Amino acid sequence: MHTVEIYAENYRFLQQHVYSQTGIVLEDGKDYLFESRLTPIVHQLGLDSINDLCALMLATREAGIGRQVVEAMTTNETYFFRDPAHFKAIQSVLLPRLKKERQDTKRLRFWSAAASTGQEAYSLAMLLLEEALGDWNTQILGTDFSSQVLDRARSGKYQQIEVNRGLPAALLVKHFRRSGVDWQLSDQVRRMANFETIDLRASMRALGPFDLVFCRNVLIYFDAETKLRILKELHGTLFRGGWLLLGGAETAFGIEELFEKQVVENATVYIAR
Ligand SMILES: C[S@@+](CC[C@H](N)C(=O)[O-])C[C@H]1O[C@@H](n2cnc3c(N)ncnc32)[C@H](O)[C@@H]1O
Repeated sequence: MHTVEIYAENYRFLQQHVYSQTGIVLEDGKDYLFESRLTPIVHQLGLDSINDLCALMLATREAGIGRQVVEAMTTNETYFFRDPAHFKAIQSVLLPRLKKERQDTKRLRFWSAAASTGQEAYSLAMLLLEEALGDWNTQILGTDFSSQVLDRARSGKYQQIEVNRGLPAALLVKHFRRSGVDWQLSDQVRRMANFETIDLRASMRALGPFDLVFCRNVLIYFDAETKLRILKELHGTLFRGGWLLLGGAETAFGIEELFEKQVVENATVYIAR
């Protein structure tokens, strides 16, 4: 395919399509991003250009192609133990506290919202296994808008390059085995997490209550209004005193009455009031 400039009306159509399906705001001037992400779909459908793809989407209104476009435009980057300070704070402050507070029920619930391919949920699972919680009922829910990434998360199969990012060698040896050129996560760790397709813009209160919610590196893609609505909704899924962890570039601005911001062991955490 030779590169053809995306017509302005098609650019707007794609922006609106992605926004309406996910809440993700793709700014002007990101032609390169559309080119790199959508060219494989253009090829696969035997088309000549992204303009043709837009024409097809408009003509057929076929949900499958629209969905493929959205999945291609979402950024799924993630890795094991991303923002290590968060995991350190969980291990040294949150878990010791919960172990005391939840002695009666011995039940802990965690949520990796925007879980992508599962590294966040499984990092927590591996950390929990280090914590002598053998007779506790620990549940980890991982959710994402994209069913493609969740299929990968469920499989627990990771490429060499993925296990090279953030995963300590000792945990690789302990919880993974070789599977061809890839690495297969053990059933023991996989069983600790369940994955479900959920749009963060939907009502989420029924999923809770959780002791900890990760909502990292996804709010940056939303506009202020969507972000605020999601943060309020997340608050409603947390126990009082439960932790919300956001990505490094994200803040819970405007919801001070719902969360207390604290720095715990070098990690910024938002504690549900
Ligand atoms: C950059 S990844 C972040 C993964 C992980 N939380 C981390 O920090 O490493 C962002 C994820 O958000 C998901 N996402 C985007 N819009 C969403 C929405 N409206 N509802 C749920 N998930 C969404 C994407 O599919 C993608 O997997």
